Amino acid sequence: MRVSGKIRTSKKRKILITAGPTIEPLDPIRYISNYSTGEMGYAISSESLKRGHEVCLISGPVNIKASPKVHLVTVKTAVQMSREVKRRIRNYDCIIMTAAVCDFRPQKEQRQKIKKSNIFELKLKKNPDILLELRDCENLVKVGFALETKSLIKNGRQKLKKKKLDIIVLNERKQNKDPFGSGEKEYVLLNARDNQVKRIKKISKKEMAKKILDETEKILTLREEI
Ligand code: CTP
Repeated sequence: MRVSGKIRTSKKRKILITAGPTIEPLDPIRYISNYSTGEMGYAISSESLKRGHEVCLISGPVNIKASPKVHLVTVKTAVQMSREVKRRIRNYDCIIMTAAVCDFRPQKEQRQKIKKSNIFELKLKKNPDILLELRDCENLVKVGFALETKSLIKNGRQKLKKKKLDIIVLNERKQNKDPFGSGEKEYVLLNARDNQVKRIKKISKKEMAKKILDETEKILTLREEI
C-alpha cells in the first residue's frame, strides 16, 4: 500500500524471532555452544511489540528478561529450537533468526560425567539447519544473521541465496571488532531484492533492531502488493 509515494508499513504482523545460543550437552555437566548474549533478538522482539506486532520469541539460554507481552518459548538445543519453529511457522508472516544455532552436537550424550582419566576424541554430528529447511516457504519473509571472520560479503551473499532469505544481517569478528554484547557495533545489511550492500556504522542493538524491522516491514508490504 502506498500513501503519498511512501510505503506504509504499520500493519500488525505475526513475527517469530529466535534468539540466544543453543547448547548441546556432552554429559550432565558439560556442553558445547556458541557465543551469544541474545541481545539482538530481544531488542528486535521489544521493538516489534512497540510497533504493535504479535511476537513469539524462541530463545536459547540467556540472561535477559523478556517482556510479559511476548510469547516466550525457551529451548536448549538446536533440535528443540527447530521443533518449536516448525510447529508454529505456518501461522507467522515472518521469521527473524538471530539465534546462534550450534551447527553440530556431540554424537552421543553421556549419561554420566566423563572423568578426566577417560580423555577421548569428541565425535560430532550435524544439527538441522533451521532456516535452510524453511527455504521453500515462499510466502514467509525470512531474515537471517551471520557472523564471519573473513569474506563477509561473499559469505553473506552465499547464505542469502542458499537459504532463500529476504535479508541477511552481517557482523564481523576481528581482532579489534567484537560483535558480542552491548555497545555500538557495525553491521552490513544485504537485501535479496536489490542485491545492494548497506553498511551501517556503529549503532546500538536497539537502533539496529529498528532498522531491521523497517526493512522487514517494507518487504512484508511489498509482498502483499504482488
Ligand atoms: N542457522 C540455522 N540453523 C543452523 C545454523 C544457522 O537456522 N543450524 C541460521 C542462523 O540463525 C542465521 C543463519 O542461519 O540466521 C546463518 O547462520 P550461520 O551460522 O552464519 O550459517 P551456517 O549456514 O551455519 O554457515 P557456517 O556456520 O558454515 O558459516
